[in-house]
Amino acid sequence: MNIDFYERIWMWAAGVIIALFVTVIGVSAVAYGLHPPSHVETIDPSKIFTDPRFSKLGEPVVMPDGTIEVQMVAVMFAFAPSEVRVPAGRRIRFRLTSADVTHGFLISGTNANTMLVPGYISQFTTVFTRTGDYLIVCHEFCGNGHDAMSGRIIVEDAK
Ligand code: CUA
Repeated sequence: MNIDFYERIWMWAAGVIIALFVTVIGVSAVAYGLHPPSHVETIDPSKIFTDPRFSKLGEPVVMPDGTIEVQMVAVMFAFAPSEVRVPAGRRIRFRLTSADVTHGFLISGTNANTMLVPGYISQFTTVFTRTGDYLIVCHEFCGNGHDAMSGRIIVEDAK
């Protein structure tokens, strides 16, 4: 089979680029603890504020295994609560949902990053190794106030 010289170059180039992408995904998944969301749990967006699963907004709950659960709700154009204090070095399980439209939830400088889709509860667990103030930003366009939609995680020294 005769393959044109330039076509051969492009075939190899495409192969190398694909291999590079797969490597980057693999390395970042392992090195930075990134993985796709796998938790599927539904909720009626109109009943979030009376649902027992979100009855502890703003007060982190210590689970029997020592994990700390943090519940937050996104509403145009804020996070409720807008500020949460958690200890460093502990497993923090975020349980999040949206009361209206699709929002994003990204804690800058960490691997915490998920979408908040109305009707679903997003859940992930992370550990903050450094104390300090972390900015939460909404990274899904959700309307006129999207650019102002932010919150704060304050990571304190564990006592
Ligand atoms: Cu909420 Cu953008």
